[in-house]
Amino acid sequence: MNITILGAGYVGLSNAILLAKNNQVTLVDIDKEKISLLKKKKSPIRDSLIQRYLSKKNLSLTFDTQISNNLSKSKAVLIATPTNFDPKTKSFDTVSIEDILKKLKRNKFSKLVVIRSTVPVGFTEKMQKKYPNIDIAFFPEFLREGDALRDSLYPSRIICGSKTNKARFFLNLLKESAIKKNIQTQITSPSEAEAIKLFSNMYLAMRIAFFNELDSFSLSKNLHPKENIDGLSSDPRIGNYYNNPSFGYGGYCLPKDTQQLRQNFKDIPQKLIQATIQSNHSRKKFIVNEILKRKAKIIGIYRLSMKAGSDNWRESAIIDVIKSLKREQNQLIIYEPLLSKKTFMGISIEKDLNKFKNKSKLIVANRFDGALGVKNEILFTRDIFNEN
Ligand SMILES: NC(=O)c1ccc[n+]([C@@H]2O[C@H](COP(=O)([O-])OP(=O)(O)OC[C@H]3O[C@@H](n4cnc5c(N)ncnc54)[C@H](O)[C@@H]3O)[C@@H](O)[C@H]2O)c1
Repeated sequence: MNITILGAGYVGLSNAILLAKNNQVTLVDIDKEKISLLKKKKSPIRDSLIQRYLSKKNLSLTFDTQISNNLSKSKAVLIATPTNFDPKTKSFDTVSIEDILKKLKRNKFSKLVVIRSTVPVGFTEKMQKKYPNIDIAFFPEFLREGDALRDSLYPSRIICGSKTNKARFFLNLLKESAIKKNIQTQITSPSEAEAIKLFSNMYLAMRIAFFNELDSFSLSKNLHPKENIDGLSSDPRIGNYYNNPSFGYGGYCLPKDTQQLRQNFKDIPQKLIQATIQSNHSRKKFIVNEILKRKAKIIGIYRLSMKAGSDNWRESAIIDVIKSLKREQNQLIIYEPLLSKKTFMGISIEKDLNKFKNKSKLIVANRFDGALGVKNEILFTRDIFNEN
């Protein structure tokens, strides 16, 4: 099948590689630099599996900066463009998707559109009414940055948010392209699929906030957080996973998806969503106070990414921690090997890890790895289990 994919980010690129194993895929992005890298088989995302597939696997994958070049041949268009949270409207900015739908109508496209970007509940149905000649389905994407392609090849589940035959056919394409066998699938209405996506991320944010509050409590009462977490996580109803404390949940999706769900709840009583969002702010304040208590002359920030293996720091909790420490006039340095600049937010970047360790009187690490190798006395982290 001939498929056009819009947006060569984590979601679009992973889906493009997945589907290009068995289909003819054109990946389109307005970012000319990304497309030129991809044409040279270089991944714009630091992901070794994506790089391996691009350079070594036999994929039927071409790249373009224009949507219309390949549209007449395409039986499906998959949209994976950004839906950033707009603080003014307190909702996702869906303009990139709406513009694409307008363009598809102008080009008389009348086949299947698969939305993989995360959208507000009710968005797909609204678009379907506006564009009755196009079949629009919402397929929530559950991949994680750092494991984007792996999660596409071995998906936890595939949810098809549309009951049309075209959407069912696409569901089978995704299933056939994955490596995992016996994938659990579910067919729902678009709005149910949209709700499943937002509630999934809401649950994950709430769980992170819960273990972070447990950690704040343990630290304040001089209790061992690991003992507490191990003890309660061995209850199978709670489970011994996704329970590693951090400076707060972050990344592109959890902060914006929780805020979007709060907006979808506008006229429905809720307390948990609001409380989770507030809990995340309180946690970052708590972390900053704990760092300040240590009265270090020079504070070294070890890495900016939200989790080990990730190559970006969109909405990373450490960024808010840095902002607060800066407001308190602390002397800071940053170690982030992925940054080529000399400064970040006006703070010097130290490229040499040994120099960074020698200069820092306290090293603050949301997540750390073996490379750090410093004594506990000068390390401040809440990464108890050494995992994401
Ligand atoms: N990153 C994740 O882990 C993740 C997981 C699940 C769902 N999502 C959702 O998927 C969507 C995309 O996320 P992402 O992380 O892949 O974003 P991203 O920022 O990594 O990539 C988006 C890409 O879309 C391109 N783009 C923007 N407007 C375009 C247009 N009109 N035509 C073509 N390309 C365009 C951008 O240049 C960019 O390369 C968002 O709605 C996000 O919430 C992301």
